[in-house]
Amino acid sequence: MALDARDIYITALKNTHALEMQALQIMERQVERLQRYPEMEDALRRHIEETHGQRARLEEALQAVSESPSAIKEGILGFVGNMMALGHTPAQDEILKNAYANHAFENFEIAAYESLLTICETAGQQGSITGFQQSLREEEAMARKVRELVGPTTRRYVELTVAGDKADR
Ligand SMILES: [Fe+2]
Repeated sequence: MALDARDIYITALKNTHALEMQALQIMERQVERLQRYPEMEDALRRHIEETHGQRARLEEALQAVSESPSAIKEGILGFVGNMMALGHTPAQDEILKNAYANHAFENFEIAAYESLLTICETAGQQGSITGFQQSLREEEAMARKVRELVGPTTRRYVELTVAGDKADR
């Protein structure tokens, strides 16, 4: 059965919505465990706020095509889910694994929005483009921030560990 541009658009909206819900879960779990890494904590808190806005944009776009986000496709999360599971195992270097995984996750989201924007144009849904461009810029800024924090986070991790301190959060 052939799918039309609108079907593809709706699927993309639902997948991206599922991705943002996953993002919120991951970040909310991490943010409570970053007492020794205040810069990372701040970046995550700010991005949690932005992500609520991104989720709202996707929900509005779904409403505009009379769809609800309820029927979520989990398939897209397979790869990301495995990657994020890296940080779940309690380990001294959990903070480092989370930093790598967050970097990967934000870049995954960048690709997802790039793709959604293209699908959006193809489906003639110009009304949602500005909002999704905003979401894309937010993901790009967060990806840069996470990248910038990899070095300082690692340095702090090494200092704490060498000092015999708990460095995992
Ligand atoms: Fe994000």
